[in-house]
Amino acid sequence: MNLLVVDDEVELGSVVATEVAKVLAAAEFATLGLATGSTPQPAYRALIQMCRDGELSLANNNAFLLDEYFGLPASHYESFAATIQRDFVHGVDFPNGTVKSLDGMTDNAAATCLDYEHAIQASGGIDVQLLGIGRNGHIAFNEPGSALDSRTRMVELTQETIAVNGAANFDQFQPTHALTMGVGTILEGRYLIMMASGPAKATAVQQALEGPVDSACPASAVQTHENVLVVLDRAAAAQLS
Ligand code: GLP
Repeated sequence: MNLLVVDDEVELGSVVATEVAKVLAAAEFATLGLATGSTPQPAYRALIQMCRDGELSLANNNAFLLDEYFGLPASHYESFAATIQRDFVHGVDFPNGTVKSLDGMTDNAAATCLDYEHAIQASGGIDVQLLGIGRNGHIAFNEPGSALDSRTRMVELTQETIAVNGAANFDQFQPTHALTMGVGTILEGRYLIMMASGPAKATAVQQALEGPVDSACPASAVQTHENVLVVLDRAAAAQLS
């Protein structure tokens, strides 16, 4: 595992965007795994800037989103599908329809999740997977207790995750469940880039990187992957020995 501790979010964004650009430059066609949340925002801004400057194109690429709230249509402002569109996709040149997300309105979650696994495989697998980390050590929506070989599935969210993710912004809708790529699905990505920033992530980062590989901290699974870059700001790295 490679670990980089950076000074601020601009540097975090630039380091991650440069890594993603390297993967894209080395492949004729590459598949990205995208995370929502606040942490990857600087990286998305940096990638958008690279596209605007003509240094990068995503015209030969596609992407899969890690997760989605169950019960929320993609058209809802707070859906991850809508969020990634606003935060990243609108500013780059993926061909239309090539950024896939899980259907939060499905009436057959098992089939939707299996189809998603098949679609990832059909695209050749994920070449570079961006990941944040939850305060409780979750990756995507794999909450503590998620099997490290879990696949894409419906999960129940913890009260902490619901609260931290700002359920108050959802109007009448209170998310209790989500569809998420499994830990095992994520580990099949060829290159994982995990990012964390801010003091609220310091304990989870320490457990994920220095604690036992255990489903109590799903992010600890990255220790088992042979091609991982972890990019932290100083506050998120504060508890590392
Ligand atoms: C959410 C997402 C994760 C994300 C995590 C951290 O629950 N499902 O993919 O990594 O929260 O979010 P943030 O980066 O906003 O702290």
